[in-house]
Amino acid sequence: MTERVVLAYSGGLDTSVAIGWIGEATGAEVVAVAVDVGQGGEDMNLIRQRALDCGAMEAYIADAREEFATEYCMPALKANALYLDRYPLVSALSRPVIVKHMVRAARQFGATTVAHGCTGKGNDQVRFEVATTSLAPELKTIAPVRDLALTREKAISYAEQHKLPIATTKKNPFSIDQNVWGRAVETGYLEDIWNEPTKDVYSYTDDPTFPPVADEVVITFDRGIPVAIDGVKVTPLEAVQEMNRRAGAQGVGRIDIVEDRLVGIKSREVYEAPGAIALIAAHQELENVTLEREQARFKRQVEQRWTELVYDGMWFSPLKRSLDTFIEDTQRYVSGDIRMLLHGGRATVTGRKSDASLYDFNLATYDEGDSFDQSQAKGFIEIYGLTAKLAAARDVKFGNGVDLGSGTL
Ligand code: ARG
Repeated sequence: MTERVVLAYSGGLDTSVAIGWIGEATGAEVVAVAVDVGQGGEDMNLIRQRALDCGAMEAYIADAREEFATEYCMPALKANALYLDRYPLVSALSRPVIVKHMVRAARQFGATTVAHGCTGKGNDQVRFEVATTSLAPELKTIAPVRDLALTREKAISYAEQHKLPIATTKKNPFSIDQNVWGRAVETGYLEDIWNEPTKDVYSYTDDPTFPPVADEVVITFDRGIPVAIDGVKVTPLEAVQEMNRRAGAQGVGRIDIVEDRLVGIKSREVYEAPGAIALIAAHQELENVTLEREQARFKRQVEQRWTELVYDGMWFSPLKRSLDTFIEDTQRYVSGDIRMLLHGGRATVTGRKSDASLYDFNLATYDEGDSFDQSQAKGFIEIYGLTAKLAAARDVKFGNGVDLGSGTL
């Protein structure tokens, strides 16, 4: 029987050429699978037809939008996942869901191999292949661009020679990856890290220096998940889409960063993630109100580790799964409303409300109604500071006391 390869198909030049290229190099039949993670842009049916026209034996679209939002973006929101404190893992989140659909297709079509269009320099190849190994260790992976040295020039001449129905002339200067959680733009003009991103880099956000009048929004969370916006019920997908629209109109969520890739390269990336950035800011503040202090402090460490694991392609790993359990447990009381002002590129929290709030007005107030017994503070500090006091006395004894400097008042 002819071997079959399932190809993660984007509809672009590289993966279109890869269909024939894989066939020639391996003798296998190619099944093209385009996974819809809310990337927008082209009609998915056109993409499917193009795969068939390029010689795929079968091609289909997997609509993974709700699944992606619910099972990938929402855990990232609960984890307040920001790599290097800024990048909301846009591409890193989509790879595992894409792989899940590839593996499903491989089983369905009896394929032995999955293929992807990544280069050998990025994180996505790692995410793709490690996820594949985790879900289906028996499957092989190939990457035509990397393993068969499919350069852009070769791709263009192959497409022209074989009259493939794909535009080869309009060379987009950027490498773009987008989904409902955000958009990643790299290469080209941006590789000079002093160059300011030009206007054409952006598509999910409007210019924050020319914002329309400020937009106020109330987001309702239930156990860490946004369930209503301005009182209107939403699914996770709708929540992200709606916040993309509203925060994007105010220029929220533009990120320009030099980041550390897993493969050791530092690379310049421009991201747009208006919905993700606004939702994470809202979620973080609701946690400030509802998480007990020690749980909150520890969660920050867990968040960072979770984020690095996901960035590094370990979505299906045991540690990630264990951390998910911890994070899920912390969300028990993360329910309530956050009011935000979206304006001039910022999403600023202006109000919070929760039945499960740990904020106690009577403990916090400096006005009438103070229920905090301030006389207890003195003894608390005495005992709390005891170790510091003993250590300082020893320092003095050994002549290592803190130098106060010689200045006089
Ligand atoms: N550097 C980012 C990441 O590793 C974005 C990768 C975007 N991929 C792309 N093909 N442009 O998550």
